[in-house]
Amino acid sequence: MKKDREFHRRKLVEILQYAHAGELGAARAYHGHWQAVTTPDEVEGIRRIEKEEWVHRAAVKRMLTALGGKPFFPLEMAIGTVGAVLGALCPVSGWFFPMYFAGRLEFGNVDQYEDAAYHARKLGLKEMARELHAMTATEREHELFFMNKVEGHPLLPLVQWVLRWGPPMRKIRQEVRP
Ligand SMILES: [Fe+2]
Ligand SMILES: [Fe+2]
Repeated sequence: MKKDREFHRRKLVEILQYAHAGELGAARAYHGHWQAVTTPDEVEGIRRIEKEEWVHRAAVKRMLTALGGKPFFPLEMAIGTVGAVLGALCPVSGWFFPMYFAGRLEFGNVDQYEDAAYHARKLGLKEMARELHAMTATEREHELFFMNKVEGHPLLPLVQWVLRWGPPMRKIRQEVRP
């Protein structure tokens, strides 16, 4: 039993370390992204998403502390830098690709927080699991925001075929889930 608890705690800390760095990368990328788009709903939407990622990051930090863990500096540096570079490139990387990759990234975040919630439940941390579950819902909203944006774009079929994410793939995924 003690071994099980240690396993779940270790997994949870590991996921949260990635999430903490991931939120930094995402927030920095979105910071460049909303400044590069022009329509008001895109500016406002991405700006709101950036704010929500900062809120997530603070929540993840609290959880890590409660578990006796802390952010993993090399990950923070690596993912934080990638996010900053992607954000800075938004003015030159066109409209489609930042939207598409944002959606793909959010898709991964949904699963990440759901996995974290599973380990929190196994540890009997009900409040943490509830909070993680709410974060899952927010990440899904983010994913849907970007999915709605890229839907119908002429580049989508090819990119989606290569990278396996986009509106119809999501439907297939939901169908195979119990
Ligand atoms: Fe987030
Ligand atoms: Fe997100």
